[in-house]
Amino acid sequence: MFENKPELTLEEAKKALDLAAEQVERNLAEFTDNCQNHSSVHLKYPKCNNDQWTCGFWPGEVWLAYEHTGKAVFKKAALHMVDSFDYRIRNKIAVDHHDMGFLYTPSCVAAYKLTKDEKAKEAAILAADQLLARFQPKGGFLQAWGSMGEAGNYRYIIDCLLNLPLLYWASEVTGEEKYKETAHKHITTCLKYSVREDGSTYHTFLMDMESGAPIRGETCQGYKDDSFWARGQAWGVYGTAISYTYTKNPEYLDTFRRTAAFYLKRLPDDLVPYWDMIFTEGDEPRDSSSASIVACGFLEAAKYLPKEEAGQYRRLAAQMLKSLVDHYAVTDFEKSNGLVLHGTYAKKSPYNTCTPEGVDECVSWGDYFYMEALTRFVKEWEMYW
Ligand code: GLY
Repeated sequence: MFENKPELTLEEAKKALDLAAEQVERNLAEFTDNCQNHSSVHLKYPKCNNDQWTCGFWPGEVWLAYEHTGKAVFKKAALHMVDSFDYRIRNKIAVDHHDMGFLYTPSCVAAYKLTKDEKAKEAAILAADQLLARFQPKGGFLQAWGSMGEAGNYRYIIDCLLNLPLLYWASEVTGEEKYKETAHKHITTCLKYSVREDGSTYHTFLMDMESGAPIRGETCQGYKDDSFWARGQAWGVYGTAISYTYTKNPEYLDTFRRTAAFYLKRLPDDLVPYWDMIFTEGDEPRDSSSASIVACGFLEAAKYLPKEEAGQYRRLAAQMLKSLVDHYAVTDFEKSNGLVLHGTYAKKSPYNTCTPEGVDECVSWGDYFYMEALTRFVKEWEMYW
């Protein structure tokens, strides 16, 4: 299936990043004092307050635009946004959930890595502390949603693999082991129960509050409990690759390979998955964000894999990116203020529990990971994660 697919060239990747940075610059006026909503509405992102789990992605795009162009206007805007993230964590605004990594890595860890901004570093460490407070020793996991120990919410979700890098980073900068130890306990539980025999994944996993024993996998945003929510699979692929980078635990690389292999088997012809990979053809919406996330995972894991295998993953990433750049990227800035079309946040099915929103729209993380994947493609990139 993959042999004859065209690959993105270096020149095309640079051009795509030029275009993305141009769009980000156009959006600065509207989104420097305001956050960008999690998804677009009729392809235009509305403004929002800094109170969604997704607010970190837009500043991440601004940092990536800064890296690509070197323009001071991006650095100034992204540093300005650090104030809002600092205020949010100090005042505990909408932080009673596990998404501290999604929020604080592309906004504040990026700011610290690129500029050594101390306020950004302190805010990100506070966010890591907030995430640690979500740890449930009975069962050994970071609780995703709701009040701690709330009935029905004694669960973790596969997405949390992308919150763990904040903990690894916090251990590095503070010298305190507690952050990475908690990450280790969480990922151990997650890989044991959330990854199925065939390499597919459950979105959420419920644990027994009294005994800490596993109960069952359930979906929220996928089609049904035993289907293959595309983004959950993508979080699995990229999350295991990053955890390998930090720990060099071979089990994570093994799980990377298994989740990647399953993902590849369920792709339609243009290499951009349907929102749930139970669908492999037809009119269901796609989730383009999953393709960008997986491309990032392939390019990260390729750094550590044997040469031939690394080459295969790099080639696959180049093929996926070619499809995204040629057929999914926004090229008409009047039509959309986003970067990538055909993302899906949450689609209602007869069997799932999600609130439907952002179906076949631009999604904030889709735009961010598209830029990240292109950046990884054009240079040796020190990751924000
Ligand atoms: N982390 C939630 C999502 O991927 O939609």
